[in-house]
Amino acid sequence: MSCFFRRSIAAKLGRTLQQSEDVFIPALTAVNVIKKQQAADFRLSLYALRIMGILPSSGDIQLQTETLASQLKQDSVVEDISAGSGVINFKVNRRLLAEKLLEPFGKGGGDTFGLDSELFNTLKRGTTLVEYSSPNIAKKFHAGHLRSTIIGNFIANLKQSLGHDVIRMNYLGDWGMQFGLLGAGFGQFGCVEKLKENPLQHLFEVYVRVNKEAEHKEDTKQAARDFFRQLEQHESQAMSLWQQFREITVREYQHIYKRLGVHFDVYSGESFHQDQAQEVVRLLQSRGLLKTSEKGTGVVDLSPDGDMSSVCTLLRSDGTTLYITRDIAAAIDRKAKYCFDEMIYVTDKSQEHHFSQLFQILLAMGHPWAGGCRHVPFGLVQGMKTRTGEVVFLEDVLDEARARMLHNMSQSNTTKELENPEDTAEKVGIGALIVQDFKGPLLSDYKFDWDRILQAQGDTGVFLQYTHARLCSLIQRNEGMEAATFQPSLLREQTSTIILQHLLRYDEVLYQSAQDLQPKHLVNFLLKLCHLIASAHRELPVKGSPQDVAQARLRLFSGTRSVLANGMRILGIIPVNKM
Ligand code: ARG
Repeated sequence: MSCFFRRSIAAKLGRTLQQSEDVFIPALTAVNVIKKQQAADFRLSLYALRIMGILPSSGDIQLQTETLASQLKQDSVVEDISAGSGVINFKVNRRLLAEKLLEPFGKGGGDTFGLDSELFNTLKRGTTLVEYSSPNIAKKFHAGHLRSTIIGNFIANLKQSLGHDVIRMNYLGDWGMQFGLLGAGFGQFGCVEKLKENPLQHLFEVYVRVNKEAEHKEDTKQAARDFFRQLEQHESQAMSLWQQFREITVREYQHIYKRLGVHFDVYSGESFHQDQAQEVVRLLQSRGLLKTSEKGTGVVDLSPDGDMSSVCTLLRSDGTTLYITRDIAAAIDRKAKYCFDEMIYVTDKSQEHHFSQLFQILLAMGHPWAGGCRHVPFGLVQGMKTRTGEVVFLEDVLDEARARMLHNMSQSNTTKELENPEDTAEKVGIGALIVQDFKGPLLSDYKFDWDRILQAQGDTGVFLQYTHARLCSLIQRNEGMEAATFQPSLLREQTSTIILQHLLRYDEVLYQSAQDLQPKHLVNFLLKLCHLIASAHRELPVKGSPQDVAQARLRLFSGTRSVLANGMRILGIIPVNKM
C-alpha cells in the first residue's frame, strides 16, 4: 500500500513542523520513474508548503528546503532524506517497499489496490449521474457518439470504483421532426420484416429516403408536419408507431452496447420532457425571465448587463420548445428523481456553449445544484471508415475492429489456440479503439487510423492486452509455485524497484483522473507499466531461478497483472487471458 509510506513521511513532517500529519498527505507525490536509476520514491515540494501556509513564503527557498531536510530524521521506513531544488526527496526501505506493495496480492487479494488510498479521503462521495452515448433514433451513429459512449463509461467506472453511487443514463434523441418524417415515410418505404431483422439500418434507410423526398415534395413535408403534430398531441396511433420505433431501437442498441461492455441504468430521452418543457416555459414567464424577441421567439437574457446582448432561445414563435428547453426540464426532473450530487454530460465540444447556457439558466431559475453539473467535452475524430465506407452504425465499427484483429492474430505466430478467437479479437479490437481515443487530452481532435491503433507493438490497446495475456500465461505455467511465504528482500534488482516505484503512483493517477475526468493519466500509466513489465520478463526470469527467488518474482508479476487488469477495466477494456 502506498499510503503506508505516505503516512509515515507525513507523520515525520507533522512532528517536525508541529502540524496535523493529514495536511502533508496530498502534498507528497510519488516520483515519476524514468528509465535511469531513480533513488527517491516520494517528493515534497516546498512551494506547496508555502502555498498551504505551512511555511513562510518569504526568504530563501533553498535555505528553507535544506533546513527542513536536515531536521527530518531517517528511520527504518524512510532511509534517506535529501534536499533537491525546492523539494525534499524521500527514499524508503527497499524490503518494505516490496513487502507493503505486494503483500495484499497474496491470497488473491489486492483488488482495491490504489482505490483505498488516503488520497481519496477528502473526496466527496455521493450520487453521480453520468449521461453518455445518447444517439438519435433513425439518424447516424457517428464517431462522436462512440467517443461519448466510451468516455462516459470510463467516467462512470472510475466514479464507481472510488465509491460513488453511479447512475448511468442514455438520453436518446427520440423526439423531433425526424419522427414526423419517419412516421410519414414508413407507410411508403417501410417494411415490417426489415424492421424486425435489422431495425437500425431500416429506420435509417426510411429516414434518408423520406428526407430526400421531402426536399422537393411539399406533400411529404406536410405529412411529416402533420404526423409530428399528432405525436405532440399524443394521438394514439402515431404514438404507438413511435413507441415501436423506440423500443426496437433500444433493444438493438442494448445488444451492441453489450459487445462494447457498456450498460445503462436508464434509457431516458428527449420525448420524456416534452410536456415538462412547456412547464419550464410557463415558469420562466411567470417569473419574468422569459422575454419575447422581435422575431416573436421566447428568449432568456444571459448578458451580464441585462441588455439582451446575449440571449438563449427557449421557445419558437410557433410555441414549440427546443433542444435546450427539454434539457432544462430534464435536468430538473433528474434532480428530483435521483437526487444526484453531481451530474456529468459527455458530448463533443460543439455543444460546449449549449451546456454553459443550460447551467446558467438553471442557476438563474434558482437551482444552486446546477453548480454540481459538468460538461465533459471532447474533440472530433476524422476519417473513421470501414472497408465498406463511412461509419453509419456502431455495429460497423465493432465488426471492423473484430475482423481486422482476427486477421492480425491469424498472421501472428504467437497466437495461441483460442476457444473463441472472435471473442478475443473483439475484446482486443475494442481495447485498441479505447486506448487510441484516451491517450491524449479528450479535447483534441484526432485522425483515425486502423493500422496504427491495432499495432501489436507501441503504445496501443493491443500491447496492453498482449502484456496481460502474457502475464496470465506466466502465472498459469507456474501455478502452485507462488507459496504463502513471500520474501520481499529477494526483489532487489533495479528492474523490480522501478516497477514498485511506478505502482506507488497508481493512486495519484486515479486521483488526477477523478479530478479532471481525463483518462490519459491512467492510459499512460498502464502503457508505461507494460513497458516495465516487458523488461521484467527479460531480466527477472522465473524459470530456472531458485525457488524462493522465483516465488518472489511471481508475486511481483501477479501484483502487476492485477493492477493492469483493474486499470484496464476502469478504462472499459475487458482484459483477455490468452491471445
Ligand atoms: N442526442 C444528442 C446528439 O446526438 C446528444 C445529447 C446530449 N445530451 C443532452 N442532455 N443534451 O447530439
